[in-house]
Amino acid sequence: MENNFGKILSQNEFSQNDILKLLSFNETESQILFQKSREIKEKFIGKKVYYRGLIEFSNICQKNCFYCGIRAGNSNVLRYTLTEEEVFNAVKFAYENQFGSLVLQSGEQSNEHFTELISHIILKIKELSKGTLGITLSLGEQTQKTYEKWFAAGAHRYLLRIETSNKNLYQKLHPNDEKHSFEKRLECLKMIKNIGFQTGTGVMIGLPFQTLNDLAADILFFRDFDIDMIGMGPYIEHEETPFFQYSQNLSPLNERFFLSLKMLAVARVVLRDINIAATTALQAIDAEGREKALKIAANILMPNLTPSHREDYQLYKNKPFINERKLDLASLETKINNIDLEVARNEWGDSQHFKNKNSQK
Ligand code: 5AD
Ligand code: SF4
Repeated sequence: MENNFGKILSQNEFSQNDILKLLSFNETESQILFQKSREIKEKFIGKKVYYRGLIEFSNICQKNCFYCGIRAGNSNVLRYTLTEEEVFNAVKFAYENQFGSLVLQSGEQSNEHFTELISHIILKIKELSKGTLGITLSLGEQTQKTYEKWFAAGAHRYLLRIETSNKNLYQKLHPNDEKHSFEKRLECLKMIKNIGFQTGTGVMIGLPFQTLNDLAADILFFRDFDIDMIGMGPYIEHEETPFFQYSQNLSPLNERFFLSLKMLAVARVVLRDINIAATTALQAIDAEGREKALKIAANILMPNLTPSHREDYQLYKNKPFINERKLDLASLETKINNIDLEVARNEWGDSQHFKNKNSQK
C-alpha cells in the first residue's frame, strides 16, 4: 500500500490539504493512519493510560448552545448541584483507588458564590488527597480573576472547547448575543494559557453545516494555539434542542464515529506529545469506543464518578453509564490491558507537550 497516502504520513509538517486527505481516508487507508498514530503515541507518551475521575458537579447552565441538552432553555431538565458530601465521597474514591487526577465539570455559571464554592472544593480536594490528586477544571468561560483564583487554589489544567475554529460555524451553533461570542471564547482560552494552566480544547465532530475542511482547520488551530490537551468527540443530537431539526442532514452515527477516530489519529500525528482524551461521546455510539480511541491515539480516560443525577447531565442522547451502579475498575483495567496498555496509578499524567515546552524556556 505504499502509495500517495502512505507518503503523507512520512512527513513531519502537515498542510491543511494534507490533513484533509488524511481525514478523507476510507476504512482500508485509515489502517495506515491508525498504525502511524499508535507508533507516535507510543514513542512520545508510552503505554500508560491516565485516569481523570469525572465529577459532573452541576447541570445548571446560563448558556443556550443550540446543540446541548442541558442548555438553559431546556425546561425539561431537573437542575441539580451535588452536595459537598457527594463531591468529597467521589474524591475519596479517586484517592483510595489511586487515580492520578480529577475533572470537575459543570454547566457554565458565573457568580461570586460559584467562584468561591469551586475554590473551596479545590482546596478541600488537595487537603483530602494530601496534595496528590491533580485537578482539571471544565467550567466554561470566566473572568481572568476567577481563573486566577482557581489556579492559585491548586487547579492546574483547564478544558475549554472551542467547539469549532470556524467563526461562521460557531455562530450557527450559538445564539447571536454577547454571552455566546466566538471572540470571548478565544480570549478565555488565551487567559487560561497565560495564567499557566495546562490548556485543553476540542471540537465536536460531525456537526450540522461542518465540512471536512473545517475539521482540518481545527487541527491547525490546535497546533497554532499550542494547546496541551484535547478532548473531542462526535456530535450526537438531542431531541430537546434547536439543532435536532437538522438530524436528517447528519451523516450516520457510525460514520461520525469513524471520522472522530480519524480526527484523534490525525491530532496525534500532527501534535505528537499532547494529552488526548478518549471521550464518553465515543462510547455513546460504539460500546468499545473508548478502547478503540485509546488503542490508536488517546492516553486519557475519564471514568465517571458522579454519584447521583447522572440522568440529568445529558448533553446528548444515549449517554452511557447513566445506570452504572458501581464503577467496575477491575474490568476496566482488563479492557485496557487487553489492548496492550497499562493503567497509571497515582500519577498526574501531565501533558508531555506542556512539560517539553516549559523545559525549553
Ligand atoms: N453532542 C456531543 N457533544 C456535545 N457537547 C455538548 N452538546 C453535545 C452534543 N449534543 C460537548 C461540547 C461541550 C462539552 C462539555 O460537551 O463540546 O464543550
Ligand atoms: Fe451550557 Fe456547555 Fe451545554 Fe453550552 S455546551 S449549554 S455552555 S453545558
